[in-house]
Amino acid sequence: MTWYARITGWGKYVPGRVLTNFDLEKIVDTSDEWIRTRTGIRERRIAAPGETCCSMSVAAAQKALEVARLNPTDLELIIVATSSPDYLVPSVASMVQDRLGARGTPAFSLVAGCTGWVYALVTASQFIQTGAYRNALVIGTEHLSVGVDWTDRTTCVLFGDGSGAVVLEASEQPTGLMAFDLGSDGSDYDALIFPGCGGVHPPSHEVIDQRLHYLRMDGHRVFKFATRVMADSVAKVVTASGLTIDDIALIIPHQANDRIIELARRRLGVPPEKIMVNIDRYGNTSAASIPLAFVEAIEEGRIKPGDRVVFVGFGAGLTWASAVFHWEPQEPTAIAVADWPIRERLAQPIARARTALWSARVSLATRIEPLLLPLYAFAGSYKKRRKKK
Ligand code: COA
Repeated sequence: MTWYARITGWGKYVPGRVLTNFDLEKIVDTSDEWIRTRTGIRERRIAAPGETCCSMSVAAAQKALEVARLNPTDLELIIVATSSPDYLVPSVASMVQDRLGARGTPAFSLVAGCTGWVYALVTASQFIQTGAYRNALVIGTEHLSVGVDWTDRTTCVLFGDGSGAVVLEASEQPTGLMAFDLGSDGSDYDALIFPGCGGVHPPSHEVIDQRLHYLRMDGHRVFKFATRVMADSVAKVVTASGLTIDDIALIIPHQANDRIIELARRRLGVPPEKIMVNIDRYGNTSAASIPLAFVEAIEEGRIKPGDRVVFVGFGAGLTWASAVFHWEPQEPTAIAVADWPIRERLAQPIARARTALWSARVSLATRIEPLLLPLYAFAGSYKKRRKKK
């Protein structure tokens, strides 16, 4: 028996407290103009005292369970992706399991930086596709406002808090997860790091004095990495699914910086309306950003049954991940079921050839473009000099 993992429930939670760029102008040496033009962020949500990863996850999960019409007691698996948990131990997933009333349900947390939710989604899908579990709750949550250094303007303007959740259920019909691409390059582990939150620098006065317990980031390195892997991974996963990029209704990327998203969009050659962007309102919510954007895309009617969507993330590790999902929140009807695999199979050989070509072009452009940047810069300054003359 072949099982498919489809999304049947979704929900989000963001704290009520809004921190605008203008508010940040009063905290650090920055400006609304700088933040907007360099990142696309206008405001972000900040958890109130008492709000935690656990409470935000429970709020998002309850909505997702309601949509799926599933009782917490029926849940068979809970995975929570986060890099800013309430405690290092125990995992926030167990606390969520308890608060939801999902008695005895296996629960664990997963750390893959901002990529975490896609990793968790793919992991949960494996349990369903093997027939081990009939359903799973997959949450992405972050409480980064407690992890950023509010005196460091290079990081504190970027991040926000929130949670997004989906329910996956087993289906006999071919739907749900179609393909995925997971990756990691630990040689850049220190490009995005909480240096003082583990065994290398255990708690000490020195750690606090040097502010090592806060998030540190090499923005340039992450930027370069992100623009390369985003386009590459989407190209790879679309090819693996046997579809073409034209078959994809919406790409839902990690919301880290709208310039990164725009560069990847151009490399992929897709129109702006096929990319979900909500970074202006929430900033970078790390593992919560893709599920938050996904839930908003549904609420805004940007995805309809039968659509194929791509989730793509990148982040600390450094890691990346993407997944193609066939969006069929209701059990597909008998007619659609009879239709779906045959149509797909006929289209596959042609689609594979077309996407292989397209994929090769995107990969080539992704690798060549950074090498050409100095040339572009030189050409620009040459033009300016000629104009002056
Ligand atoms: N406000 C005002 N000025 C700021 C600033 C802020 N918040 N942060 C940095 N600056 C200054 C810098 O000090 C620098 O000044 P200088 O030229 O006098 O030295 C100038 O702005 C340019 O800084 P730079 O770091 O080159 O800016 P950038 O265009 O590379 O943008 C990031 C910085 C962080 C927005 C960008 O590198 C980025 O988005 N990187 C990826 C980060 C990311 O996605 N992280 C999460 C991954 S999951």
